[in-house]
Amino acid sequence: MHKLYGTLNIPGCKSTSHRQIILASMSVGKSEITNLLESDDIKATIKILKLLGIKIFKSSNKWIVYGNGTNGFLQPEEDLNALNSGTTARTMIGAVSSNPIKCRFIGDSSLSKRPMSRITKYLEKLGARFKLTKNDYLPLEVVGTDKLTPQEITIEKPSAQIKTALIFAGLNMNGKFLIREKVATRDHTERLLKYLNVRIKNIKEKNGSNLIEMRGPYEIYAKNMKVAGDPSSAAFFIVGALITPRSKVTLKNVMLNPTRIEYIKVLKKMGANISIKKTGKISGEQCGNISVRYSKLKAVNIEKSLSPFLIDEYPILSIAASCAIGETKMSGLGELRHKESDRIVSIVSNLKKAGVKARNVKESIFITGSPELNTKKCKIKSYGDHRIACSFMVLSLLNKNIKVDNEACVSISYPNFKRDLKGLLKK
Ligand code: S3P
Repeated sequence: MHKLYGTLNIPGCKSTSHRQIILASMSVGKSEITNLLESDDIKATIKILKLLGIKIFKSSNKWIVYGNGTNGFLQPEEDLNALNSGTTARTMIGAVSSNPIKCRFIGDSSLSKRPMSRITKYLEKLGARFKLTKNDYLPLEVVGTDKLTPQEITIEKPSAQIKTALIFAGLNMNGKFLIREKVATRDHTERLLKYLNVRIKNIKEKNGSNLIEMRGPYEIYAKNMKVAGDPSSAAFFIVGALITPRSKVTLKNVMLNPTRIEYIKVLKKMGANISIKKTGKISGEQCGNISVRYSKLKAVNIEKSLSPFLIDEYPILSIAASCAIGETKMSGLGELRHKESDRIVSIVSNLKKAGVKARNVKESIFITGSPELNTKKCKIKSYGDHRIACSFMVLSLLNKNIKVDNEACVSISYPNFKRDLKGLLKK
């Protein structure tokens, strides 16, 4: 069996790429962005911003954006197609809702099954108007206004997309706007705004909730930005090295935002040999190099309270659990039902196909692992879900008989995933 060996530069973070290109569009003047992730999801965001009148183009290795300000989106003449991207749809719905324009958002068949009222119900309270398909889905019409009325909003579900949609709307709102998240989620938007010198207050409340105070409208002055490597993409190679005997890999340029690398703590609890060397800050985010060696893993109990910080890594953690001795339990996975596929179904059904003992009980998944994988042939159904495809391509390092049905869908977050994985394979 081949090992994974060598060094890899991890492509730009998907969440941060969306936020940088959108905030550059809402700034005044010219921004240059380097290391922007050029994946299908980010292309969807760029196309929508162009339809909203923003000039964006690539020149050598930089993306150039001429922003029109927080009140600068123009009436689009076409539907805005978010394709497969929940972050594009949800955050852009927030961004346009505080501009006096009318837009229609559409998406692919997967995105059209994902709930949107979780965003629109708050924006409606502020004064934007919406027409949703079956009260929850795309296609969706937004009638925005530059006269949204700020008030206090408490977000029930832990979701950085909901928080970001409200912050983007708040940038063009007049007065004091309070956003409370009961459970803290990834904070790239807040960090990036700080980097862009936008003053928003972040208050940790006594009961543990997180309060964001905005006093708009804001004018953002264009500033050059750089995207750090995506920790969720790094996770595939980390687990790949952990489960493949003799492996030793170093991943460079990875964002170390604490809301995104909880999975490393989980893997360490499982016995993983991982070390991190900080290399400095990039556009408000700490970065570093992560080194990993093959390790004998043991099962672990992953608490429900960690789910907002592991939300995109459950598929690849399931692969680690499949190779760990004992039964791993992952709880509080309800939100996985609303991702690019129903990830509770796509994880459990595919692990079973690969000969791994896996089951779910409501919103918990149980996996009994073993370092010895079954060698039977199986075809993994990705459901067009990039994280499912990448995760099972990693499992296939141990068993060449595992094939993924639609490897091409990795282009949603990591177009060169297969090339990079192959590049690390050594005898
Ligand atoms: C994201 C937030 C998360 C995550 C998604 C990206 C973001 O979604 O799963 O991949 O960029 O804000 P939720 O907000 O639905 O948890």
